[in-house]
Amino acid sequence: MKVLIIGSGGREHALAWKIAQSPLLSKLYAAPGNAGIAQVAECRPIAASDIQGLLDFAKAQAIDLTIVGPEAPLVDGIVDLFRKEGLPIFGPSKAAAMLEGSKAFAKELMTKFNIPTADYEVFAHINEAKHYCVETEMPVVIKADGLAQGKGVSICETSQEAVAALDRIMTEGVFGAAGSRVVVEKKLEGEEVSILALSDGERIIPLASSQDHKRAYDHDRGPNTGGMGAYSPCPFLSEEKFSQIVDLVIRPMIAGMAREGTPYQGLLYAGVMLTKNGPVVLEYNCRFGDPEAQAVLPRLKSDLLPVLLQIAKGRLDTETLEWHDKGCLAVVMASGGYPGHYDKGFVIDGLSAAARKPDVFIFHAGTAMNEKSHFVTAGGRVLAVTALGDTLRAAYEKAYTEIAHVRFQGGFYRRDIGRRALEVLR
Ligand code: AMP
Ligand code: GLY
Repeated sequence: MKVLIIGSGGREHALAWKIAQSPLLSKLYAAPGNAGIAQVAECRPIAASDIQGLLDFAKAQAIDLTIVGPEAPLVDGIVDLFRKEGLPIFGPSKAAAMLEGSKAFAKELMTKFNIPTADYEVFAHINEAKHYCVETEMPVVIKADGLAQGKGVSICETSQEAVAALDRIMTEGVFGAAGSRVVVEKKLEGEEVSILALSDGERIIPLASSQDHKRAYDHDRGPNTGGMGAYSPCPFLSEEKFSQIVDLVIRPMIAGMAREGTPYQGLLYAGVMLTKNGPVVLEYNCRFGDPEAQAVLPRLKSDLLPVLLQIAKGRLDTETLEWHDKGCLAVVMASGGYPGHYDKGFVIDGLSAAARKPDVFIFHAGTAMNEKSHFVTAGGRVLAVTALGDTLRAAYEKAYTEIAHVRFQGGFYRRDIGRRALEVLR
C-alpha cells in the first residue's frame, strides 16, 4: 500500500515511524514532513493547508490511504474533498471536525448529550462578555471559539484579567476570526488526562491512556504550550476508571454525532479533568494528540495501518488493539523563547548516539537538514526524546539520560515530565 501522512510535527513523525513498520506498506510519503520524518518517508513540499495540492498529489501517486495529522486541514474539509474523489483518507469530515473547530459547537453538543463539562456562556459581543465577567464568580477560563494553535485559552483569576483577555481576543484580534466568539467557562481543578479513541462513526477502540504537560516550565509554571511532554499509561486511571471515562465522554459523543447525521470517523481526543466531582471534559480534538501520540504509539503492538484503513473505508473490523505492557515517556525539547518568539537554524548535536539506544526514539517536530547535512532547529517544539521501559520509572530514567546528550543553542526541556505519575506509583 502507498500511504501519505499529512503534517510536519512530532505527532506525524511518530505516526510515520509506526506506519513504516507495517508489512502492508509499500511506499510512505509525507507532506510536508520534517527532517526526522525524512528518515522513514519520502517528503514532498506540499503544505498541510494546501488541500488541493495534496489531493492532486494523492491522485497522481494513486495513494491507497492518506492520514491527516493536524486539525486545520480537517476543519477545512480535506476529508470531504478526498472522499468525493474516491480516495481513502483517515480523519473526520468537516462537519465532525467542528468538534475541535468551534469550542461553542463542542459545548453545545456536550450539553445536548449529557457529557460532563464546565458551566459556560458563549459571547459574540465584547461588551456582553465583559459585563458577564465582571458579574460572575472568578476564576474563569476564556477560550477563543475557533482554532488558535493551542494558544486560545486564557485562565483568568480576576475580572481585570478576564477583561484584558477579552480585549486581546475580541478587540485586538490576536487569534483573528477564531476570536470573533468566545466561550467563558468556570475554571476547574484536578489532574488532566488525554483519552484517545478510534471510531468508524459507530464502533470504538480506545487507545492507551496518557497525560500531557501543557505549561512551558517545571511544576506547571509558565505559559501554555502545545505540550512539553507526555507519558503512557496514566497511573491516575485504573482499568475500571478508564473504561468508565470512555463510557462517559467518548461513547455518548460518537453515538450522538451519528444521530445528528455527522458520524465521527477518525481519532477522537477528549481532554478530561479528573475533578473531585468526577471527570469533566475540557475540550475535544479531532486528531491524535501531540505529544501524546509520541508516548502512546511506541506502546502499540498491533499494526496501525489496517485499522486506520478500515476507518477510512467506513467500517472498523478490528475489535481490540494489543499493547506492550511497558511505560513510555516523551520529553519535548523546545527552542529558547517558545511558546513566544524564538530563533531557528541552530545545529542540533548529540542525536545519533541517543537514537542508537534500544527503545529510545527521537521524534522530530521542528527540524530541518542544512546544506552540510546537519539537523538544525526549525520550529518551537524541536523534538521529543522518547523511551520505552519495563516500568514508567525505567522509561523516565532512560528518556532523561538520553536527552542530556542532545544540545542546541537555547534549547530547553522540562525536568519533571511524568514526575507526579511516578509519585502516585510509589
Ligand atoms: P483547551 O484547549 O480547551 O484544552 O485548553 C487548554 C488548556 O487550558 C487545558 O489543557 C487546561 O490545562 C486549561 N483549561 C481549559 N479549560 C479549563 C477549565 N475549564 N479549567 C481549568 N483549566 C482549563
Ligand atoms: N497535546 C495537546 C494537543 O494535542 O492538543
